[in-house]
Amino acid sequence: MEASSTDGKLVEASSGKTNFKVRDGFSTRLGVLLATLGSAVGLGNIWKFPYLTGTGGGAVFIIIYMISVLLIGIPVLVSEHAIGRSARANAIDSMRKVSPNKVPWWLIGALGFLAAFFIMAFYTEVAGWVLAYVFKAFSASILSTDSNVTTEAFNSLVTNPGLSVAWQVIDLLIVGGILMFGVSKGIERVTKRLIPLLAILLVVVAIRSLTLPGASAGLEFLFKPDFSKITASTLLAGVGLAFFKLSIGMGTMITYGSYFRSDQNIPTTAVRVALADMSIALLAGIAIFPAVFAYGFQPNAGPSLVFLTIPSVFASMPAGNIFMVIFFILTFIASIGAQVSLLEVPISLVNEKFNLSRKLSTALASFTLILVGSLAALSNSLLANVKIFGLTFFDLFDFTTSNIFLPLGGFFICIFVGWVWGKKNFFAALTNNGELHNEKFVSVLFFLIRFVSPVLVLLVLLNGLGVFGK
Ligand code: PHE
Repeated sequence: MEASSTDGKLVEASSGKTNFKVRDGFSTRLGVLLATLGSAVGLGNIWKFPYLTGTGGGAVFIIIYMISVLLIGIPVLVSEHAIGRSARANAIDSMRKVSPNKVPWWLIGALGFLAAFFIMAFYTEVAGWVLAYVFKAFSASILSTDSNVTTEAFNSLVTNPGLSVAWQVIDLLIVGGILMFGVSKGIERVTKRLIPLLAILLVVVAIRSLTLPGASAGLEFLFKPDFSKITASTLLAGVGLAFFKLSIGMGTMITYGSYFRSDQNIPTTAVRVALADMSIALLAGIAIFPAVFAYGFQPNAGPSLVFLTIPSVFASMPAGNIFMVIFFILTFIASIGAQVSLLEVPISLVNEKFNLSRKLSTALASFTLILVGSLAALSNSLLANVKIFGLTFFDLFDFTTSNIFLPLGGFFICIFVGWVWGKKNFFAALTNNGELHNEKFVSVLFFLIRFVSPVLVLLVLLNGLGVFGK
């Protein structure tokens, strides 16, 4: 797959093997910004951020996450875009192209392939729950402020092996179908337009949640840090979330960078994407936590948190059913952008490396995912007692991808860019060969990527894995 670009003109993948062509509408700078945001915004904002904030002790976790986005997330995002745009190829070939011969930096891309697969294994399950909730919202019975009722509704879904697998398969059929028929461009366009709608709905839900009696405890939880709650695992989870949220450390953003226009301002794009993405996550937090405290839910419920609390907020709103249907539909649509970008990693690899047709590659990747994914889907039922390192398959995939694979991939990106690719290439890529006059900002970014981000990632990773003792 080769993409070419002429200044000011369109960036286009020429072989037609990929769906991520940047053409027509997407050749605009805003289009690129929105496409990148489409991969970043997803279940990470609505599902993962709230549940990790709940288990990580609230405000202090949010602070760790925000610092991670600034000191690690943005520099790595910028680096991945720069590598992709300089090489104009898929993640593995991009790394091959920009690195010196013989040193296997392309292994970062290979690590990303595995990460993408494992993320999809649990992500498709959560997306399946979201789909199921679109339909559950129609039955008034789930709209309750009683935590027993919403917990029971969630449990009846996840402990049912048939239903869990079925919703996951439906999700995979939708995403696989989008990729197989190459209509992702149209879908992405729709996705991008709906992200603002999701943000607006989140504001509505947040206002409702904030005006519930007893909401202030939730605000305190979100904004008043208790620094005694910092532990090795919350640090690791915060850094891991920054990676997961920005889709970095695994090659997705290298691929996206390869479709950037030559005159795209990479640093500004990255900062905007990071801030917009973080704001949507915070909004989800404000929509959820006041209700958690107002209705006596447990903030540390884990992956089920959103599914337990959101129905209770809608229960206390006029036309709650309708709003809840819209909320879960928008969440599902937001998840599609992320899923398409995830699944594209294994598909493009099988497609290019093994020379299989795009349709066959998609079918193969989706089918393998049904097998691997069902391990996650059955984690609350048939396989609830099968544990590896004390974690169910679902938790194992969820934990290891964010907390090990992505930080590890990000660490190697930092080392590569800061110490191998070097200042000259970095500056040329990020100043658009001197056109942008953003040298000061690029210097700061280079300092971070060379000295700060890799050290932080490594320390947090080793500490989180217990290398320095508990
Ligand atoms: N960033 C996406 C989300 O928050 C998840 C994702 C991770 C997508 C890694 C692509 C790559 O939902």
